This record gives sequence, structure tokens and C-alpha cells, in this order.
Amino acid sequence: MIIENYPVLTNEELDVAINNAVNQVRSCLKDYTYMFKYPNSVNNFYPLMDNTEWTNGFWTGEIWLAYELTKDEAFKEAGLKHVDSFYDRIINNIMCEHHDLGFLYSPSCVAAYKLLNDEKAKEAAIKAADKLITRFQPKGGFIQAWGPLNAKDNYRLIIDCLLNLPLLYWASEVTNDNKYRDIALTHIKTALNVVIRPDYSTYHTYFFDMDTGKPSHGVSHQGNRAESAWARGQAWGVYGLAISYSYTKNPEYLELFRHVTKYFLDHLPTDLVPYWDFDFTDGSTEPKDSSASAICACGMLEMAKYVEENEAKELIANASRLIKALVDNCSVSDPAISNGQILHGTYCRSTPTNGCRQHGVDECTSWGDYYYFEALMRLKNFNWNMYW
Ligand code: GLY
Repeated sequence: MIIENYPVLTNEELDVAINNAVNQVRSCLKDYTYMFKYPNSVNNFYPLMDNTEWTNGFWTGEIWLAYELTKDEAFKEAGLKHVDSFYDRIINNIMCEHHDLGFLYSPSCVAAYKLLNDEKAKEAAIKAADKLITRFQPKGGFIQAWGPLNAKDNYRLIIDCLLNLPLLYWASEVTNDNKYRDIALTHIKTALNVVIRPDYSTYHTYFFDMDTGKPSHGVSHQGNRAESAWARGQAWGVYGLAISYSYTKNPEYLELFRHVTKYFLDHLPTDLVPYWDFDFTDGSTEPKDSSASAICACGMLEMAKYVEENEAKELIANASRLIKALVDNCSVSDPAISNGQILHGTYCRSTPTNGCRQHGVDECTSWGDYYYFEALMRLKNFNWNMYW
């Protein structure tokens, strides 16, 4: 495998990278405490926005990571202001009619509850879980990702939703009510049945017949084509399986995790920074998606906690190589160059068939920044208690 030729990150490099990441968060606090970061940078700097996108939890998650590493009260104060904002958002149902409530509420409010026992954060996150389960479609057995409920053109799940399930597992743990977990388990069973192809590449989205609930067909909204492997979607599969395994210890998830991860690693280019879709490799002029390997590394480091020693060592070494590649090729150490953590992410690359509007190409992405920082935290502290 190409990945084995790449060096792992040294302890010194890890410390420098963590220091840089904390400094990047610190230098952003002034502008982005009462406002949030846009989903992606524009010319490597994030426009300001209100808390109205599916991505706003990632910047808050970076603040919590910086707080956990430094115990600096300035980060705590900013993080708690964000909790107020997330509380208002769910109470007033501001841009909450979609499935991305886990992406929003795990790294912001679940994190604040885990770190500080903050009751307001806990209440907000449980309310978000309550909202998320309203999107469950019994006919088909899945959480509907986007659009008005029961709209025929949106009767589908998407692989990204695996990262919304941890909010439900967590909600069942803190409320002692299994209704959240039961929906998560039904959703993941359905999702794994349809999104994973025989070669362990993955579909981005999968439609169901509204009348019968039977799986209908796969479509890529952000990948290169319906049958291709969108790099970030594959990474959502890796990390989503690892988290669901951590909550359930279902051996099926471990087995699929191994295959889906191998597919990801087998399709990397020489510099280990994936192109936005695995249709492309060395020599292509297509853009990269640095966020995909940051997400994949987090999944490998989570799963390394649960497997036997040799497999864990390999997972940790390969995650370290992915992160070293991001440090070498994408990371930002000078706030004058960018106010993100890693360059060269891709939000949406439009193609004649995927129908997405092109934006955020070769830019920082708020989730790429967060997962890169989370992976650094995991490399430093193997038993890190995740926010998911
Ligand atoms: N969850 C949406 C994305 O990965 O772009």
C-alpha cells in the first residue's frame, strides 16, 4: 500500500501542529465569538455568519478542543456563548429542518456537557435529538436527510448521517430512554444495507420507494457520479462505523469498517491527500479534499481503542501518516495566510450529473479544520473522550 511509504508524525511535529492549531483558534476568537464561521473559507479566510448552517458546530468544537488542551478561560467563555446560541437555535427551530443536528450539537453542546457538566448544553442537545428523531421514516426504516418530510424527491438517506447518530446514542445514555438509540440502530442497519457496494466503495445517497419502503437507487449529490466513491462520503463511512461500534460493539460494524477503510487507503495518491472523489488519482488536475483524510484518521484512531494490539498499531500508524500528510501539505501555521487549520478542502464540486452548486473548492472547510484538530488531539491523547 502506498501509505506505508509515508513517514509517521513525530512527537515533536505533533506538538508543533497542536500549538499551531490552538493559536489559529485563539487568533479567531476576536471575530468569531458572537458570530460563526461560514462553512468554507473564501480565498482561505472564513466569512462571518450567524448560527444558521449545518456546519456551525465544528468551529465551536475547535474552541472546546483548544479549551481542553489549554484550560484557558477565554476558550471556555467563548464556548459557553456558543452554547447559548445553540440553545436559542433549537428552542426557536432556526434552520433545524434537516438531519444534520448531530453535526451541529455533538461538537458544541454534547462537548460542553462532557467537559463542564453544563446543564443548558445537555438540554439543548437532548432537544436536538428529539428533533432529529422526528425525521425517522418507518417506511424504509431511515432518517430522512434533507427537505420536507415525505417529499418524494427527498425520500432518501445519505451516508453522512452516520455522524448524526452519535447524538442519538448519547441521548439514550443520558435520558435512559432507548427510543433514540433504537432509531439510530434501525437507520444504520438500513444504511449499511444500501450504501456499501460489493467492492466496499460507498454511495453518497440512496432513495427509497415511498409506497413500499423498498430501496430504490443510489445517487451522488457531491461525488463525481452515482457509482463513484466520493472521498468525504467514504470517510463519513469510516468514522461513522467506528463511532457506532464504540457505542454498540456490534461485530458487523467492525468488519465493514475494515473494508471501507481499506478502500479509502488503497485509493490515496502518493502525497496521501485524497482527491475529492476516488475517480481521480496521481496526475489529475482535479482538486483535493483534505477534510476527507482528517475524518478518516479520526475514525481509525477511535477504532484503534477496541481492536487487538497489532491491528491497533497499524490503525494508529496509518492515521498518523494521514495527519503528517496534512501537516506537510495543507496545515496553516501563519494566521496571515489563512484563518483556517487546513487548506485544500472541497465542499461541492459540481459535475454534469451530481446537481450540486459548485462552491468551496480548494478552500478550508470548517469540518476539515475540526476533524484535523480532533485527530491531533487523539494522537496526543489516545483515550480522549470524544465529543460524539
Ligand atoms: N455533510 C455534508 C458534507 O459532507 O458536505
